[in-house]
Amino acid sequence: MPLEYINLKYKPQADDLIAEYYLEPDGISIEQACEHLAAESSIGTWTDISTMSPKIARRLKPNVYSINHKTGEVKIAYTADLFEPGNMAQIWSAIAGNIFGMKAIKNLRLQDIRFPKSIVKSFRGPRHGIEGIKNLTKVYNRPLVGTIVKPKVGLNEEEHAKVAYEAWVGGLDVVKDDENLTSMPFNNFQKRIVKTLALRDMAERVTGEKKIYMPNITAETGEMLKRADFVKARGGEYIMVDILTCGWSGLQTVREHGEKSGMIIHAHRAMHAALTRNPNHGISMMAIAKSARLIGVDQLHIGTAAVGKMHGGRSEELALEEEMEYMRMNDDFHHNILRQDWFGIKPVLAVASGGLSPLSTPKLLKIMGKNIVAQYGGGCHGHPDGTRAGAMAIRQSLDAALKGISLKAYAETHKELQRALNKWS
Ligand code: 6PG
Ligand code: MG
Repeated sequence: MPLEYINLKYKPQADDLIAEYYLEPDGISIEQACEHLAAESSIGTWTDISTMSPKIARRLKPNVYSINHKTGEVKIAYTADLFEPGNMAQIWSAIAGNIFGMKAIKNLRLQDIRFPKSIVKSFRGPRHGIEGIKNLTKVYNRPLVGTIVKPKVGLNEEEHAKVAYEAWVGGLDVVKDDENLTSMPFNNFQKRIVKTLALRDMAERVTGEKKIYMPNITAETGEMLKRADFVKARGGEYIMVDILTCGWSGLQTVREHGEKSGMIIHAHRAMHAALTRNPNHGISMMAIAKSARLIGVDQLHIGTAAVGKMHGGRSEELALEEEMEYMRMNDDFHHNILRQDWFGIKPVLAVASGGLSPLSTPKLLKIMGKNIVAQYGGGCHGHPDGTRAGAMAIRQSLDAALKGISLKAYAETHKELQRALNKWS
């Protein structure tokens, strides 16, 4: 493979897709590793080939235009002709595909993707986005608060609906299924939707507030569409998809379908840490978030319980601190990438979740602002007096945070919050 892809004088063109990688070569120079990387992700292979022509090379050869020897950061500009418009799977097969397994490369991390306008325009983006969600909920000046029904799986349809009802009536806006709850022997999807949406309607009557249910439709793609239609026919407005386990194309089909059905898509990122967790190898959450936004999710999970849950033995408080730090470090891309102006592609609502309790609310708002959905699982159903009291405590923590009153002071007149503080302080 002759050295031919590095061109440090190259100025990226408007219609280039730019991929930024962190690269650690294995026993060769970074330049040689870059050649392998650029070749394998585009038109080349490990050896010269008789079928390559100067014409093909001129038209399609990418340019490695930046190599930072100190940081290992390399940037490659790919002409848009290498990619099929509107096909996220194909784009990832190229710039996030075979290259991760090459012997020439010890570690590789796709840090960022800059999509050119022609590719951005080939995707739909969110149908609703932040605006659409606000129009539906009529909640404009505060975060939406919600819960995930717990246990993750195990409740039957009726128990599930009742837990949801308790949460809504206690003051939460949103109830959603967990990522591993789909259609189970003990909790059938269709039955769960019917029962839960019926109690949603009742909760709306009782509280006078708009209530949201996000059922997890994750399944084989055709089945997902049937489930989305079922939810819509029963009066639901939202669906949730585990976007990484079902894959970009499954998600794209759901989004395509949503153009007619109009469902709001909540994106769960289960499995993301297999890609994002190792700082030296894998794919960044930034690349995932941008790709999901282009395809068209309306809201995306960005915070994770993983810190709290994975580092057993640490206090919840410490875990939250770590989580907050994570969000702070990633705040730029989470907020900018989800919301920045992008050739008319609508902004995505950020969802913060993972080991949150009413105690977390003031810090969360301070760091992430009001344009979020904050979701509490154990921090709702773990309340000593049950789900409804847990939901009340969460809503009280939100009121306190919005009014700038300390939780301790607010709890003096709000006993559900007091009980939560007693348990989790
Ligand atoms: C989700 C995510 C998740 C979420 C927990 C909440 O379903 O949205 O999987 O990370 O945060 O299900 O549970 P806890 O609040 O108990 O961590
Ligand atoms: Mg979950």
